[in-house]
Amino acid sequence: MIIENQAMVTDAVIEAVSRVDDPRLREILLALVRHLHGFVREVRLTEREFQEAVRIIAAMGQKTTPSHNEVVLMAGSLGVSSLLCLLNNGNNGQTETQANMLGPFWRDDQPPCASGDTLVRSPTPGPGLFVRVSLEESNHNPIAGAEVDVWHSSPEGLYENQDPKQAEMNLRGRFVSDRAGRFDFRSVKPAGYPIPVDGPVGELVRATRRHNFRPAHLHFMIYKPGFKTLVSQIYSPDDEHIDSDVQFGVTRALIGNYIRHDEPSRELGFAAPWYSLDQRFTLEPGEARRPVAPIRGKAQAAAPDR
Ligand SMILES: [Fe+2]
Repeated sequence: MIIENQAMVTDAVIEAVSRVDDPRLREILLALVRHLHGFVREVRLTEREFQEAVRIIAAMGQKTTPSHNEVVLMAGSLGVSSLLCLLNNGNNGQTETQANMLGPFWRDDQPPCASGDTLVRSPTPGPGLFVRVSLEESNHNPIAGAEVDVWHSSPEGLYENQDPKQAEMNLRGRFVSDRAGRFDFRSVKPAGYPIPVDGPVGELVRATRRHNFRPAHLHFMIYKPGFKTLVSQIYSPDDEHIDSDVQFGVTRALIGNYIRHDEPSRELGFAAPWYSLDQRFTLEPGEARRPVAPIRGKAQAAAPDR
């Protein structure tokens, strides 16, 4: 069609993408064109603003490396990752869910651990943490034999792959739940940490006058065939950024009941203060699938990527 006015551009593109064979891809493209053209009309995007948008999107790609993904960071910073997670879990967004974003630091080669083990593999000063995990179905039946990956940042807010001072696989482990659906482990209490702000995400954070911190959290991934793999984060309520996560990840269901203890524990080998956490996870029936690991090992020393 020969385009005679601005309205006809949208018609022409809609007609073009209507020819896509795959019905789901067609549905996505049609909605994308409708919303994109609607957005340009709504804000009456100027040519100069369009050039700026192109620059920002290109910069996200240029900033992305094997150990850092600026696009994922931007999706989180705009709340898209959190929205996607809430729409696709909890009975498709109908009920509360413990699902949360994977984040950029999961490794698929986390070392096997036995219940009771510590995740501390090199000296990591900070308050002790004792975590008891239990896994169950929605009818409260325990889930035995699930593989549970745990990973978290140090009390300085750095993951082992970012920090030359930490041993390989420090603060990481893979546990298997027992017949009662349980296991426990010792570690140190993680701290919150800043996301990198030297790219387009930083421009957004500064423009919106936000801080760039994520509140302290433990990451979990629970894998067992027959259940939808649960990727979760459990946040520390005492973190000053608990209600202003730069990645919009914190929901009520994910605030952990961390308890502070002011007497040392000889049994656990902890000085005071130390913390304990009893955490129950409920799995939904579904497909068990581990995602592709975002990183494979320690980042180069020159790339302090968070
Ligand atoms: Fe994290």
